[in-house]
Amino acid sequence: MSEKMKIGVLTGGGDCPGLNAVIRAVVKTAINDYGMEVVGFLDGYEGLIENRYRKLTSNDVSGILTLGGTILGTSNRADPFHFPVLQDDEYIYIDRSSQAVQNFERLGLDVLIAIGGDGTMAASAGMTKKGIQIIGVPKTIDNDLYGTDQTFGFDSAVTTATEAIDKVHSTAQAHHRVMIVEVMGRYAGWLALASGVASGGDIFLIPEIPYEIDVICDKIKTRNRDGRNFSIIVIGEGAKPEGGEMVVKRLIANSPDKIRLGGISNQLAAQIEGITTLETRVTILGHLLRGGTPTAFDRILASRFGSEAVHLAYQRKFGNMVALQGNAISSIPIEQVAGRLRKVEKQNPLLLTAISLGTCLGIENSKILSPSEVTIP
Ligand code: F6P
Repeated sequence: MSEKMKIGVLTGGGDCPGLNAVIRAVVKTAINDYGMEVVGFLDGYEGLIENRYRKLTSNDVSGILTLGGTILGTSNRADPFHFPVLQDDEYIYIDRSSQAVQNFERLGLDVLIAIGGDGTMAASAGMTKKGIQIIGVPKTIDNDLYGTDQTFGFDSAVTTATEAIDKVHSTAQAHHRVMIVEVMGRYAGWLALASGVASGGDIFLIPEIPYEIDVICDKIKTRNRDGRNFSIIVIGEGAKPEGGEMVVKRLIANSPDKIRLGGISNQLAAQIEGITTLETRVTILGHLLRGGTPTAFDRILASRFGSEAVHLAYQRKFGNMVALQGNAISSIPIEQVAGRLRKVEKQNPLLLTAISLGTCLGIENSKILSPSEVTIP
């Protein structure tokens, strides 16, 4: 083993609180424990493909633990195998993975630490096959990455959503309104479920459980009859009615996953007003959930992930993603993570807690509790 390994690090996909905490842990562990050199690629895989990077020293990462965003920049469009290039006002896609390998080798790197979500892990699985030695670090506010009990960024997003819902709660109460708060999360309901439980919402709607409008309206009417003349609905952006579709806000032409969700809450509000005649207002939290300083939990998780990624690199355990399993940091082959999403499963303990707390999940609770009635995709 070379005395002094040289490692590259990049952040890919949508940003989230804690990215800088991982970069800091990678750089500090690499230098303090192993005397390694570190370079950071700019804007995710784009930087590796275009040979844009900067050397990272201890000084460069000093004071970044609490910063949101990423000092390296990121991109959710830079798939090395399907790289978008604008030609005559249209995107064409070319395979630039060999260019990435060449740049990696020219810099004399031993390993790449790729911090990202499912898109970054899928690209990393492909780059591993092309011979680059990679260690993955799982990030996303959506918490939907397969193979880890939690991604960093999720706790911070849940905290931001919870604060926002708390604020909506008091105005809902004052005005006797139905308030819908829409959170991000793509095709998984983790953010809606966790922030819903944390803020004591009344109705949670998640993509995994298509909702029935009558069940939602019955719950609101029952609350009103019982003297609680306001209701808080927390809805994931990927939620949809039974037999209906998710609401696509826009399509991003040059993104590997072109779909951007958002706006289901407006459709739902109109239906609730129509059926109950109660004033219903919508708040869409959107990118607010990706900003701000990471929570203490995320700073710790990100630091543990970053350090462990360097230890794995030193042990030459390439092709693995660090992961949280229970309270322990472990790892899982990146190829097992790529292309799979972790969704809220039917018997998820937090889902069952929500039911015990009297929360409406958009369908009759008996359908969730009885194993045969609902198939969660
Ligand atoms: O994956 C993180 C996430 O914030 C999702 O929750 C959301 O659907 C998506 O990214 C939004 O992406 P963009 O920043 O490209 O609009």
